[in-house]
Amino acid sequence: MPTQPMPTRPTRPIQIVHTRAELREHTARLLGEKAGAGSDGGPSLGLVPTMGALHEGHRALADAAVARDDVVVASVFVNPLQFGDQTDLDRYPRTLEADAALLEEAGVDLVFAPDADEMYPGGQPEVRVTAGPLAGKWEGASRPGHFDGVCTVVSKLFHLALPGGFDGRRAPYRAYFGQKDAQQVAVVRRMVRDLDFPVEVVAVPTVRAEDGLALSSRNRFLSDEEREAALVLSRALRLLSGRAAAREPLLPDDAEALVRSQPLVELDYLDVVDPETLEPLAFPCRETPFAGEALAIVAAKVGPVRLIDNMPLAAQ
Ligand code: PAJ
Repeated sequence: MPTQPMPTRPTRPIQIVHTRAELREHTARLLGEKAGAGSDGGPSLGLVPTMGALHEGHRALADAAVARDDVVVASVFVNPLQFGDQTDLDRYPRTLEADAALLEEAGVDLVFAPDADEMYPGGQPEVRVTAGPLAGKWEGASRPGHFDGVCTVVSKLFHLALPGGFDGRRAPYRAYFGQKDAQQVAVVRRMVRDLDFPVEVVAVPTVRAEDGLALSSRNRFLSDEEREAALVLSRALRLLSGRAAAREPLLPDDAEALVRSQPLVELDYLDVVDPETLEPLAFPCRETPFAGEALAIVAAKVGPVRLIDNMPLAAQ
């Protein structure tokens, strides 16, 4: 039987709010209730941004936030700005009741679940965050504007979740993102640095099914056969991480050949990059004994779904 993660603090009924005003009001109250907590200028606040359809991968983010922060707010909002494809947006699963139950079990205090009109009153915003060159490669190359949409909504959430605004806050304010979306983490970190958001970005390791498939809200659209075929992605990444750990040459072409050997998988990219800049590693590191740290990244279409995955590489 799978073991359930232990809740790290006693759970109480979660509150769900739908408007920005309610979010500010309830976060202020929750922080007020914890006024004595925290040695570092008051209670810390943790934010877990999501689009819902939550699974154990999201749960890991909530668990990390609950373990560390005094007040934890999760958002559930399917952000139209980051979808290039209307069909993808329309079919994105919406399961708020189940999402709230999962977050409550994790010990999250508050869920912010706005609709698009509440988040973008008067239609889509005119002024947006441009994510820059880091967002133009890999996922950005096949999803133009995607990371601009992510950065725009994430900036709004950073502001909205903090009741008094950024001004004068000394206690920690953390936002939790999954390493599963490595480029999203890199782009959000870059935004926080470039625009001076006083937020600490925490990356949480990827949660996988027992067979290695990275959990994703989109996995539900895979047939059994496609799901089995998709396992080649994590296998290819494991081949590279094994070689890196053993300080062997990575020879990424072998990993690529492995993915291409699976007819149901249409490879988009597979590469070994610098974890921060996402630039491909210099050629010699691929062909000579591996040293240092890197990230192996992969994206492929499997049936109706585009899947992404990645694995940190480190010489042992
Ligand atoms: P969503 O796809 O719902 O993911 C929410 C968070 O959960 C992201 O930080 C994502 O990286 C993390 N996550 C998803 N699957 C995971 C897994 N298997 N292991 C660990 N973490 C996982 O990413 C988004 O939403 C949106 O772009 C958002 C940041 C909410 C902005 O709209």
